[in-house]
Amino acid sequence: MKKVILDCDPGHDDAIAMLLATRADNIDLIGVTTVAGNSELHHTVNNALRVLNYADVYDIPVYAGCSKPMMRDLYRLTGAVIHGEDGLGGPEIPAPTQKPEEKHAVDYLVDTLMESEEKITLVAVGPLTNVAMAMIKEPRIKDKIDKLIIMGGAIIEPGNITSAAEFNIYVDPEAAKVVFNSGVEIYLNTLDVTMKAVFLEKDINEMVKSDNKISKIVGELLIFFAGTHVEHFGFLACPIHDALCIGQIIDPTLLSHKKVFCDVSLHDELTLGETVADLWNITGKEPNIYMATDVDVDKFKTMIKTHMEKPYISKQI
Ligand code: BDR
Ligand code: CA
Repeated sequence: MKKVILDCDPGHDDAIAMLLATRADNIDLIGVTTVAGNSELHHTVNNALRVLNYADVYDIPVYAGCSKPMMRDLYRLTGAVIHGEDGLGGPEIPAPTQKPEEKHAVDYLVDTLMESEEKITLVAVGPLTNVAMAMIKEPRIKDKIDKLIIMGGAIIEPGNITSAAEFNIYVDPEAAKVVFNSGVEIYLNTLDVTMKAVFLEKDINEMVKSDNKISKIVGELLIFFAGTHVEHFGFLACPIHDALCIGQIIDPTLLSHKKVFCDVSLHDELTLGETVADLWNITGKEPNIYMATDVDVDKFKTMIKTHMEKPYISKQI
């Protein structure tokens, strides 16, 4: 059983990642931290809570974190276009009964990691602001992170916010730079793999038709998400980017990775937020990141569909 903290900005695919983690037999999701990204912080924290409560989960604490990137204003346009004004457009999901915790997400990350006897897996599927701030506040947390699994970046595929950059990295590139250069064992699941593992109309319809309320709501979320992908990018297929990071913990054979040197572009307007990887070790720099190279698409689809049919079984003591 892996102890996992999920840092996210729900967001359709974040919500599905969270649901997947709560339904996984080998994951003990001990906390959810939220960050501004797909929507403003008050929306992302509320979305995390309402998705959990809708899915009969009331015992996983949710923390609000940073309300803006480290050095920039929050870039809102694409998040709103793709995820809707409140970050979770589509089906009506009732307001949560659970409240967010008092503690700031950065303090929760620092305290929980420092107090834990065992190492914890950190999954970060939004802009990396909370994670970078926690590393700056208490650098010793780096030794307590088992693996840091990130959804972000685009190495061979084009970006989805500029032609060079992927959304999570573009929104807070300074934070990404801090994290990439932290020395922690990082798995980077980029658009190169997430755009291969897309749900098609028949996959989504199958879920919508289910009698299970979680499968059904996931299908409805995907209808909205697929719709904005058609409008904005012109293709009828729906990625569930963030859920791959949880999928990797459920089944380590889901993704293949290759260790490379990778850093983030900061200064050039054309390439801001680009994840630049040295695929052939031309620079001779020490590899620092396991970049995803491939995904078993059928395995991922089956994993999502079967897990959403499962009831929530609490692992909190
Ligand atoms: C990433 O950006 C967000 O819109 C998604 O939630 C995902 O984390 C994909 O580029
Ligand atoms: Ca996200």
